[in-house]
Amino acid sequence: MNVDLRILRFDPEKDTEPHWQTYQIEVRPMDKVLDLLIRVKGEQDGSLSFRRSCGHGICGSDAMLINNRNRLACKTRVDQIGKKISVAPLPGLPVVRDLVVDMSGFFTKYRSVKPYLINDEPEPERERLQTQKDRARFDDTTKCILCAACTTACPSFWARPEYVGPAAIVQAHRFIFDSRDEGANERLEILSDENGVWRCRTIFNCVDACPRGINITGAILDVSKAIVARRG
Ligand code: SF4
Ligand code: F3S
Ligand code: FES
Repeated sequence: MNVDLRILRFDPEKDTEPHWQTYQIEVRPMDKVLDLLIRVKGEQDGSLSFRRSCGHGICGSDAMLINNRNRLACKTRVDQIGKKISVAPLPGLPVVRDLVVDMSGFFTKYRSVKPYLINDEPEPERERLQTQKDRARFDDTTKCILCAACTTACPSFWARPEYVGPAAIVQAHRFIFDSRDEGANERLEILSDENGVWRCRTIFNCVDACPRGINITGAILDVSKAIVARRG
């Protein structure tokens, strides 16, 4: 089967605006969109730029807008999305070149929620223990691979780029509800400001976009409830 692969191209050294370019390419059984991009770059147009690393849905580097939906190129089967495929960079972030976006703002927000274990107690001789029940409390949010598909699918983020966004809230959730962590109050304070959780309008685009199937709105609700309980 042949498909038309339409890619939104932008070269900052030559172009003033992005433009679409279409490539005809033969599809092999089980091809993912990433396979097509790699073959276009290797066989038709070496100037095409995109990010990818693991090829297996783990590193989170190849999220892009595929047929108008944020997805990982390495997890999107070509035979499941039809013969006409359009690929564009993630919406809402500055484009560096072709499908490569500037993720620095996204990672600044990620760092702003202190996504690491905070515990000033003396280190135990071995590991810090935790019950299975306590571990289960944040199991879902440990699955995040920081691909940015959720935040860049969120209309609240498009309207207000200062919004910390669902990905950062998911990452905060992972530590706020960890029984070994003592930094919940700091994070809840950060997330209760004008660009924190209250910017979420429960639009659910983030949930549809997440390649890890994380219950993002559930995590946002957990954090919102914890903020309210803390004000108590
Ligand atoms: Fe990607 Fe899902 Fe993490 Fe958002 S929550 S960054 S969509 S893995
Ligand atoms: Fe945005 Fe998701 Fe909330 S799409 S508005 S973060 S439910
Ligand atoms: Fe790593 Fe797709 S290349 S997630």
